[in-house]
Amino acid sequence: MCGIVGVLGKHEVAPIMVEALRRLEYRGYDSAGIATIDERLQLHRRRAVGKLVNLSDLLVHEPLSGRAGIGHTRWATHGAPSVSNAHPHQCGPVAVVHNGIIENFRSLREDLAAQGTVFETETDTETIVALTRSFLDQGLAPRDAAEQAIARLEGAFALCLLFENEPDLMIAARKGSPLAIGHGEGEVFVGSDAIALAPLTDQITYLEEGDRAVLTRDSVEIYDADGRRANRQVRTIQIDAAHIDKAGHKHFMAKEIAEQPTVIGEALSHYVHDAGIDLPQTLDFAALDRIVMVACGTAFYACLTAKYWFEQLAGLPVEVDIASEFRYREPPIGPNTLAVFVSQSGETADTLAALRYCAEKAQIAAVTNVETSSIARESDVNLPIHAGAEIGVASTKAFTCQLTVLVLMALKAAHARGRIDDATLAARLAELRNLPGRLNLALGQAPQIAAAARAVAEAEDVLFLGRGQMYPLAMEGALKLKEISYIHAEGYASGELKHGPIALIDQTVPVIVMAPHDHLFDKTVSNMQEVMARGGQVLLITDSEGAKTASDGTWRTLVMPDCPALFEPILYALPAQLLAYHAAIAKGTDVDQPRNLAKSVTVE
Ligand code: F6R
Repeated sequence: MCGIVGVLGKHEVAPIMVEALRRLEYRGYDSAGIATIDERLQLHRRRAVGKLVNLSDLLVHEPLSGRAGIGHTRWATHGAPSVSNAHPHQCGPVAVVHNGIIENFRSLREDLAAQGTVFETETDTETIVALTRSFLDQGLAPRDAAEQAIARLEGAFALCLLFENEPDLMIAARKGSPLAIGHGEGEVFVGSDAIALAPLTDQITYLEEGDRAVLTRDSVEIYDADGRRANRQVRTIQIDAAHIDKAGHKHFMAKEIAEQPTVIGEALSHYVHDAGIDLPQTLDFAALDRIVMVACGTAFYACLTAKYWFEQLAGLPVEVDIASEFRYREPPIGPNTLAVFVSQSGETADTLAALRYCAEKAQIAAVTNVETSSIARESDVNLPIHAGAEIGVASTKAFTCQLTVLVLMALKAAHARGRIDDATLAARLAELRNLPGRLNLALGQAPQIAAAARAVAEAEDVLFLGRGQMYPLAMEGALKLKEISYIHAEGYASGELKHGPIALIDQTVPVIVMAPHDHLFDKTVSNMQEVMARGGQVLLITDSEGAKTASDGTWRTLVMPDCPALFEPILYALPAQLLAYHAAIAKGTDVDQPRNLAKSVTVE
């Protein structure tokens, strides 16, 4: 979602900010802009709709000078993507970049309009600068005016303010959306995340909820939500340039798909030792009555898959919910419940709100990819997935690393609850150690998958079917295809086909059946026959045994390496991702930054 940068530097800041904004592109955006304070201490802005290259082009023709600046990539919430709605917003001598939503902006706007403020846009953000200006007009100093304005804002936001005639002052604030301060030598930076600031500094302070920071080149003062001076840790962040580089691949998504054998091996090495699984001791699975799992999108499908594992392996009832539903449903949380929140970014607004609802009611475990994220920090137990920075908007390696950590949790729970013995646990772990090798073999099928994807790309609608633990994967496959190729796709449980979706079947609708030769295979094959009997084109993704027994009459069959049944959802995620990737290439879409999507969804 929106990306923020701010720089009080020693050199011209416009190029530095454009570069920092480039590193925030992965979050998703539809316009971009920067503001600087020039030598005459005046504020100037440049803003452009669309990709960052449009802003860079504009800066070639209309350069901005100055050593202090703020910049922004905007993902539209209030108001269409247009130059006037793009950030920074300015009102008189103050400019702001903002991520989040100001919920009380209408009432603030009415009050300010009644006092004579003329608004240029429909955005909630403009209210922030108008309000700050009204306090400046009352004679307050910039930092006091900012403090008064921020205190009146409701909603979730991260923001950074810059003032005319104040080339050595930035005010940053965080309430609900993440914000990092970067420390340099006689320089200071603000960024939505450490990735934005990676080449500028590795010394980072994360603002906490309600924090406000007064920044000059030589000082960083942070105040907590109660206005008390706060001492926040300066961390040395290791963001290796390789993590934010395509490493020779055409897209980040391709790189991240290819990395999966390595990062899953990494995740395993963090949790699996000798014949056991190392998880924090405070996770007492034997004492649990149930697990509640909450997430959004792809992370939600990881939770749905884990439900099969926890229930079948550990006999633990699991309830899985979409965070945006869970948070307002007021679900009762009984004692002896573990609440698990799964989130790649660790900042998804709905998941975070759901977590806060469960705090104090249940033990909270987070499965995230960002150890410094809000969800990780607000949990009792944090289980990092060790996927490394995921830049492609479509989640790939984070999904399979989430599944890896979740299957380890389920195995640990099964062992702790006496459902599997030491020998069985050791056998499963040995199989898991072989998983990266099998994933490599699956990646070796990429040419065949790409050929199938080119055929799928001609369809307007696609169905994915799966049964048992492959059902969530059918939904994930459909999500991946629609988000990056814009082909309409739905995932169904194979057994549900007859209850409605079969009406859609004709020769124009490819049906992708994800079915390894497991104990449910014959049932899925019956559903597949029902599709073929109606002229449907089946793309069967199966293993060697499945291909031997069921590929007659299919449109195409893709053969995956054999794999122990328990881990098949992890392996079969790869062909689903590659199908989506190659279909998107065939359609010529923007694979890494698909339209309308944001990587880190920090508004509800
Ligand atoms: C799909 C995708 C999204 C995210 C969802 C949750 O490819 O990436 O569906 O999974 O927005 O994001 P996190 O995991 O950051 O909470």
